Amino acid sequence: MTLNPLARNNRPLIFHPRSQLSMGVCVSMRWMWIICLALVGLNTGGLRADDGYRAWLRYDPLDQVSQRQAWTSVVTGLVCREDDPSVKVALAELQMGFSGLLGIDPSVRPEVSGSGGVLIGTIDGNPEIAVRLRPEDADQIGSEGYVVRTYSNGNGKPLVMIAARSGVGVLYGAFELLRQVQTGVYPHGLDKVDQPKIGLRMLNHWDNLNRTVERGYAGFSLWEWFELPDYVSPRYHDYARLSASVGINATVLTNVNANAVILTEAYLEKVATLADVFRPYGIRVFLTARFSAPMEIGGLETADPLDPGVAAWWQAKVEEIYRHVPDFGGFLVKANSEGQPGPQDYGRSHADGANMLADALAPHGGSVMWRAFVYAAEIEMDRAMQAYAEFQPLDGTFRPNVFIQIKNGAIDFMPTEPFHPLFGAMPKTRQTLELQITQEYLGASIHLAYLAPMWKNCLDADTRVAGEGTTVAKVIAGSDADDGYLPGAIAGVANTGSNRNWTGHPMAAANWYAFGRLAWNPDLSSESVAEEWVRMTFSNDAHVVTPIREMLMESHPAVVDYMMPLGLHHIMAWDHHYGPGPWIDEGRPDWTAVYYHRANADGIGFDRTVSGSGAVSQYHPDVAGIFGDVDACPERYLLWFHHLPWNHPMASGNDLWDEMCLRYQRGVDTVGSWLEVWAGLESSIDAQQHNHVLRLLTRQERESRWWRDACLSYFQAFSKRPLPEGVGAPGHDLEYYRNLRLRYVPGTPSEQ
Ligand code: GCU
Repeated sequence: MTLNPLARNNRPLIFHPRSQLSMGVCVSMRWMWIICLALVGLNTGGLRADDGYRAWLRYDPLDQVSQRQAWTSVVTGLVCREDDPSVKVALAELQMGFSGLLGIDPSVRPEVSGSGGVLIGTIDGNPEIAVRLRPEDADQIGSEGYVVRTYSNGNGKPLVMIAARSGVGVLYGAFELLRQVQTGVYPHGLDKVDQPKIGLRMLNHWDNLNRTVERGYAGFSLWEWFELPDYVSPRYHDYARLSASVGINATVLTNVNANAVILTEAYLEKVATLADVFRPYGIRVFLTARFSAPMEIGGLETADPLDPGVAAWWQAKVEEIYRHVPDFGGFLVKANSEGQPGPQDYGRSHADGANMLADALAPHGGSVMWRAFVYAAEIEMDRAMQAYAEFQPLDGTFRPNVFIQIKNGAIDFMPTEPFHPLFGAMPKTRQTLELQITQEYLGASIHLAYLAPMWKNCLDADTRVAGEGTTVAKVIAGSDADDGYLPGAIAGVANTGSNRNWTGHPMAAANWYAFGRLAWNPDLSSESVAEEWVRMTFSNDAHVVTPIREMLMESHPAVVDYMMPLGLHHIMAWDHHYGPGPWIDEGRPDWTAVYYHRANADGIGFDRTVSGSGAVSQYHPDVAGIFGDVDACPERYLLWFHHLPWNHPMASGNDLWDEMCLRYQRGVDTVGSWLEVWAGLESSIDAQQHNHVLRLLTRQERESRWWRDACLSYFQAFSKRPLPEGVGAPGHDLEYYRNLRLRYVPGTPSEQ
């Protein structure tokens, strides 16, 4: 097994020009490591340029000498005797990790000896493992979990064991061990037994076949369709390594606004090549299915799901896919939504459409992810209510291999949204939570916004549907109990692209990382995940960890403050969604801003109480009671559910207008404070990354003022109130902000 060449070449072999070392110098790994250490020891800062390619799997030499020594004395070799492809990539990852972190090249041997080492394998594949497990371990690791534990080996030499039931469990255990080493843990007493809480943990790529990415801000698609299947980019392996390192086990390769061409033979060969790369990493491939594909590429006259010819076409197509990809995961479908074709074109229901595809996939073990993101301008009903109205009555009519994929909130990935009322409301249906990792409404890859706290708001939200504690996380995790929810899934719209550092903003990698970690275990805190990421990406030095972790934790609330505080939503610019646009009032009403903020001389906000649109009634009565009561409603959702007068008294003692202005200002101030924090990290972070983030933060600060000034100038025309003390005056008049036009914002479908 060869190590991933690109990852390896990208490791400390690249030096900042100041170091005067040429990349061409040919020295052994060990010498290179010693040189690196010496350079780190000089503490001159920024010696190694880092282009961010390695993301959180940097494996740079550990800076704490005692920790390095402790691990070096344990990792005397890797004990493994299995040939499973996932175990082999685990072994390769450990070799790569330890050689980078510790500067050693541990050899692989089949037997445990007196000299310690790392014992790796599956319970059935190695009796050495079976004898060491505790009786309770086997019940706690499921099919994907692991045990990572240090044993004293009799003669004082400790042995670390990575054990699992499956090869992919071993791989996850290997990544866990490396994470422990990377984040500063010592080998003594290591004892981690873990398994994922959610079975299916997917990335959704909104990638088009021409390599543009809808709402993608990090370059072009990772999938080089034209070069495939002949040329296989090393990036595919590294994508799989990074994804598997956080437990992602499925990927949808194509945009939900689907192109039927992906289902043609030529493209299936390309898909098969990617699936072959991802398989050892435990990642199953899914594709988006365009509902009208039987007509577009099959020559049929209809795509009616109840037409036997259509069902037969899909059945044959699915069989063809499985010939190429034997472990194909299934289809993700956006139907009758934003102009996409679907069963309703033929007077059929979403269940008719989903079940027809599900029947074709079932014999092969595949699933259908059917999206509930539906709404229509022609319908009078509040857009926030339409998906529930359409899908909830269909509960119990879907096949067992259909998952209904639901965005975290009922509108569309707004900076802050209450949880979608469909969660928990379809007890006989599998549900998938769809989150957006890419920052469509949160500053693209220009603004720093660590999204874990926002996702936690949804995961931890108590739907109360099956009693207190029925959180969204519990609903989608499901359980084997007869009266429990059926196991579901979690999906994240990916923020990756062809940019060297994968995610555009160097700090946006934290969102990819956090999505995977929370998908594995939604009970983790956003803060602990942020800290892990900072330690793995930058340093274990508290002077680096604390300020960056704090910046991350402050970032989502700050962005909400300067974009859409207090439950305001959908007031962004037309089409590209990047800047402010509270004045948008033309075109499809449910795509305007005025539909959502409803500002007038009396006040602001969307009345969704029972005296308004009634959207609160779609929640369990306990929850409806909270959201519908202006005094109990959390302030972050206030204007989502209530239309309130400008002088409405707030908890702070301010009235609504002043509070809103002060929130905008607070957001601006928070971003401003990061500039100083980041400047203080100059000597601790390599120059390339430091400068990149600095330039972006500088722009974010400027654009936070743009949001504040544009929104407050606009709303002030209704409130007719002065800005309270402490709120900066706008730099321009409202007309100026209204006339600003951004062109060619990445990821905008109309400009692709
Ligand atoms: C948003 C986004 C679209 C996307 C859609 C979806 O509306 O702007 O680009 O296609 O969500 O989730 O399907």
